Amino acid sequence: MQLSAEQLAWAVHGTPLLIDVNLTVEPGQTYGLVGPNGSGKTSLLRLLAGLNKPKAGRVLIDGQPLHTLKQRAIAQSIALVEQQADTTDRITVGQVVSLGRTPFLTALRPWSSNDDAIVAKALFDVDMAHMADRLWHTLSGGERQRVHIARALAQKPKILLLDEPTNHLDIRHQLSILELVRQLPITVIISLHDLNQAMECDRIGVMDRGRLIDSGHPHDVLTANRLRQTFGVHAHVIDDAVDGKQIMRFRSAI
Ligand SMILES: Nc1ncnc2c1ncn2[C@@H]1O[C@H](COP(=O)(O)OP(=O)(O)O)[C@@H](O)[C@H]1O
Ligand SMILES: [Mg+2]
Repeated sequence: MQLSAEQLAWAVHGTPLLIDVNLTVEPGQTYGLVGPNGSGKTSLLRLLAGLNKPKAGRVLIDGQPLHTLKQRAIAQSIALVEQQADTTDRITVGQVVSLGRTPFLTALRPWSSNDDAIVAKALFDVDMAHMADRLWHTLSGGERQRVHIARALAQKPKILLLDEPTNHLDIRHQLSILELVRQLPITVIISLHDLNQAMECDRIGVMDRGRLIDSGHPHDVLTANRLRQTFGVHAHVIDDAVDGKQIMRFRSAI
């Protein structure tokens, strides 16, 4: 599914937090969202997911304005993995992931073995199958994060929005989640702090003080100038001796 934002704006108590964001992510693309703390990444993802209403502008999925769709229809298309999602319920890992199937259940279409299979696959994909019966509150931060990603995968979304999903993850799970996400045949928008990881996305957008100031091919967007101006760091590129890939290294610009 194609996801677009048209002249999107959002404000809290009169303070503009998102200003004139225009964006189109084509079906199947992985779009990396980068930007300093407080630049508006989380705000934008929540608007794109339909959780917050824009003050101006609109979000469209396959050309259809989000605000014309019912919550259930949106949930059948878009999944969001939030940065600080939590639950206080006494609930198992398997039950958390099962919640991803909620938008598809009705009286006429109750839980089936197909739903069981989807939940099992989602748990397997994030390497949490062995913990399906564990209680949520006994998990580590990184394990919780992986369960949240599994819940979103179980939703079988056509558009997946991920807010810093690798934050609490050890390096092995960071890499496996990023690889998994990139290989999904769906549209993905993922906010990331690791700029080298962001370079692996099909396209990158840079947020700065509520604006999407640049968007395009990773090499065109994350230039030395941009890194200095927006992130306040000096960057230089080195070639990895093993696979020849370019890696950015950073020094403080202060
Ligand atoms: N509900 C809110 N009320 C007031 N300010 C908010 C609210 N949500 C976000 N902000 C502010 O908006 C700015 C952007 O926040 P956020 O979207 O979380 O940025 P990022 O995810 O890039 O770190 C920050 O300055 C933040 O403090
Ligand atoms: Mg954020």
